[in-house]
Amino acid sequence: MKTQLPFLLSLSGLATATAGSFATQCSALAKTLAEKTDNTTITATTYVAAGTTLQEPPRHPSCPPLNATLNYSFCRVQLTAHTGPESAVVLEHWLPLNWTGRYMSTGNGGLGGCIDYEAIAYAARRGFAIVGTNNGHDGNYGEPFYKHPGVVEDFAYRAIRVGTSLGKQITKLFYGKAHKKAYYLGCSTGGRQGFMEAQNVPDEFDGIVAGAPAFDFTGLQVSSGSQIRFTGNNESDTFLTVDEWTMVVNDTLAQCSGLDGLDDDVIEDPDLCQYRPERLLCAPGQKEGCLTPAQVGTVRNTQSPIYDTEGNLVFPRNQPGSNSGPILWSGQPFLYAADWWKYVVYDDPSWDGIVTVKDIEPARKAQIFGIDAYNGDLSGVRDHGTKVLHYHGMEDPIISSDNSARYYNLVQRTMNLQNEELDDFYRYFRISGMAHCTGGAGAYNIGNQEGTQSGDGPESDVVSSIVRWVEQGKAPDYILGTGYRNPATKKGKFQRRHCKYPLRNTYVKGNPDLASSWKCVQ
Ligand SMILES: *[C@@H]1O[C@H](CO)[C@@H](O)[C@H](O)[C@H]1NC(C)=O
Ligand SMILES: *[C@@H]1O[C@H](CO)[C@@H](O)[C@H](O)[C@H]1NC(C)=O
Ligand SMILES: *[C@@H]1O[C@H](CO)[C@@H](O)[C@H](O)[C@H]1NC(C)=O
Ligand SMILES: *[C@@H]1O[C@H](CO)[C@@H](O)[C@H](O)[C@H]1NC(C)=O
Ligand SMILES: *[C@@H]1O[C@H](CO)[C@@H](O)[C@H](O)[C@H]1NC(C)=O
Ligand SMILES: *[C@@H]1O[C@H](CO)[C@@H](O)[C@H](O)[C@H]1NC(C)=O
Repeated sequence: MKTQLPFLLSLSGLATATAGSFATQCSALAKTLAEKTDNTTITATTYVAAGTTLQEPPRHPSCPPLNATLNYSFCRVQLTAHTGPESAVVLEHWLPLNWTGRYMSTGNGGLGGCIDYEAIAYAARRGFAIVGTNNGHDGNYGEPFYKHPGVVEDFAYRAIRVGTSLGKQITKLFYGKAHKKAYYLGCSTGGRQGFMEAQNVPDEFDGIVAGAPAFDFTGLQVSSGSQIRFTGNNESDTFLTVDEWTMVVNDTLAQCSGLDGLDDDVIEDPDLCQYRPERLLCAPGQKEGCLTPAQVGTVRNTQSPIYDTEGNLVFPRNQPGSNSGPILWSGQPFLYAADWWKYVVYDDPSWDGIVTVKDIEPARKAQIFGIDAYNGDLSGVRDHGTKVLHYHGMEDPIISSDNSARYYNLVQRTMNLQNEELDDFYRYFRISGMAHCTGGAGAYNIGNQEGTQSGDGPESDVVSSIVRWVEQGKAPDYILGTGYRNPATKKGKFQRRHCKYPLRNTYVKGNPDLASSWKCVQ
């Protein structure tokens, strides 16, 4: 599925870009790029000195603005790559003065559509020449896909591929030498994008960090879009309020958190939890602090896998202990799923946004451009020596982490390998108490984004972990996560060694805030 891109720069005959100061070279880069690239529009190449505040309104209201004061200097390249007659990818390429020789691409979130400035700034601070894109459209919504297959194609895979191809070449052009190693870092849709590249272009990156992947995209959308059938709208007798969902989560913790050996507010392994909501049924005459039989049915439905009419699994259950109250269970159609059917599967903006079993087949057929990224054959990655570090929060209210374990098992069964053999190129870490990509009650700080580095060595940080694995051949056996009882002040620190799947974390003895009091067991 390698695409011939129309943007390839001819690098032959270029003078090395070492003359003059970094700032001068940066300004001059615009002209060089305009001459050397095809089907691109160079917006600007700007030297940004440490301490400068960058501020820009978002390109779409659903995207966060750029508003950052960075403590390092870099060359900011902004350009647009025209991918087709009616599609284009907007790129930001930040080239730090203090370059480590490493290249990185980063991905997107949701149906975005938003340049992830936070990820770009984080990677550039850590010395990576980094590219992030708008994934082919502006805004975290699906309307731009409507009757624009080129925009869908950018979203499915092409934005990453075009961005990476251009990014590697601009890196070489600017610094006068090629990158030493290439990395990918992304979560959610970014996780799906990472696996898309691992499955289809395994030599593109040397190391991939893919978190909470939105892969098996079709199954995920079926699941997200089905939840409103279980909850009904906010006036249905099947509906639970946000407070009632909190009560369910509390009761789940009461029933299941001790299964890992310690009764706390984190479930280390939701697989062990078979939650029974019946305990919350209202006693005769009870009106408060309990659930009706219809509501208990809703809880059961949301914690059951979804099957198609032939009995095949479409998507695993939502994880017990995660709270999707305000998101998937709000009584409104879930935007991403609704938009996918409206603007891609059915081309019908008036479609009601409620996914039923009969909508599955059309979506599977419409899974154009390999959007699912759910191929269990990672032999390309293995053969090229690429390392894949996969992680997923066990408290994720948007994408059930059961889908990540399901993928690991798919790879194992597709390739017929032992866990130890998969370990050579693919490792999956389950991050207890992590919500969607960040946050949660657990030790979720793992250096996957700015502000989540604990500084406790390479094991405590997924970026350092992947670099060490790729460059020194030392693979991570666990991810050392850090949590704070008071996240705002970073007081009340506790840590966990998040285990490599299929191992699970179990409390042994001693102070439970210390990672050494826990053990990864079979
Ligand atoms: C930009 O960030 C600063 C510091 O976080 C904040 O004080 C300011 O209000 C922000 N400005 C805008 C326009 O968002
Ligand atoms: C720059 O800021 C980051 C946090 O944004 C911090 O971790 C780092 O130590 C700072 N570096 C310098 C040189 O001040
Ligand atoms: C790239 O530009 C060339 C000529 O300007 C054009 O023929 C070609 O269709 C463009 N390719 C894409 C993908 O837009
Ligand atoms: C440059 O990066 C190295 C390591 O990558 C770091 O030790 C050093 O402090 C950085 N220098 C500046 C000025 O940021
Ligand atoms: C129920 O949802 C409707 C819109 O669908 C909203 O206008 C109304 O405020 C909601 N009611 C409550 C009690 O949240
Ligand atoms: C859930 O548990 C938390 C922490 O123990 C408590 O503060 C909260 O009141 C509980 N909420 C409900 C609805 O039971």
